[in-house]
Amino acid sequence: MSDRRFFVGGNFKMNGDKASLDVIINNLNTVDSPNDVVVAPPSPYLSYVASKLTSNVKVSAQNCYKVAKGAYTGEISPAMLCDLGISWVILGHSERRHVFNEKDELIGQKVKHALQSGLNIIPCIGEKLDEREAGVTEQIVFEQMKHIKDNVEDWSRVVIAYEPVWAIGTGKTATPAQAQEVHEKLRKWLADNVSNEVAQSTRIIYGGSVNSGNCKELAQGKDIDGFLVGGASLKPDFLEIVKANA
Ligand code: 13P
Repeated sequence: MSDRRFFVGGNFKMNGDKASLDVIINNLNTVDSPNDVVVAPPSPYLSYVASKLTSNVKVSAQNCYKVAKGAYTGEISPAMLCDLGISWVILGHSERRHVFNEKDELIGQKVKHALQSGLNIIPCIGEKLDEREAGVTEQIVFEQMKHIKDNVEDWSRVVIAYEPVWAIGTGKTATPAQAQEVHEKLRKWLADNVSNEVAQSTRIIYGGSVNSGNCKELAQGKDIDGFLVGGASLKPDFLEIVKANA
């Protein structure tokens, strides 16, 4: 077993209201785990959730912009997140890439600015179905990694999320072998392009239709250091996923 601490993130996406979040928070307040557990509510609820969590569960934003302030209507900045005591942010999620058309270059700029501002980041990468079928998965995820890597100085504040786009919200989870295969290649890529030390210490987590039924088997992959969970993070099942490695 690696000495990388298992990491489970819950990405609520654009879901929840105060009443349903209260139920989730009550559940999260029972979490007693040595793992890192981080949840990402929609931005209007960041402070609400953070103020009600009594357990060791941390709060993350789902996105932020590449500068500290200014005339960018609708955006939120890392400085604002830090001001609220929020310590994590997800960047480059596939829905940001494919629904909001965010490109690698912008995601790289966000990575740089978020780290410079003191946040911990969860940059996301992953291939689309046609890319997997065309046999270019590696090429795609390595290119995405390059834009992230070029903007990272402190890898201790980075958790890479590999989320194959075809597995997100579809119920089609990557098999444990498919996930492990890509994670292993990503770790080798880090060794070849950053350093062996960073490759060994950086958490690479899997996302895409993770649930209480498939999490334990996925967690056995030696390069799978945790999960980024969408739909199931809104359900009581999330507590099972949090201890998938136990
Ligand atoms: P699902 O778990 O709903 O497939 O979503 C995964 C995801 O996008 C997490 O960021």
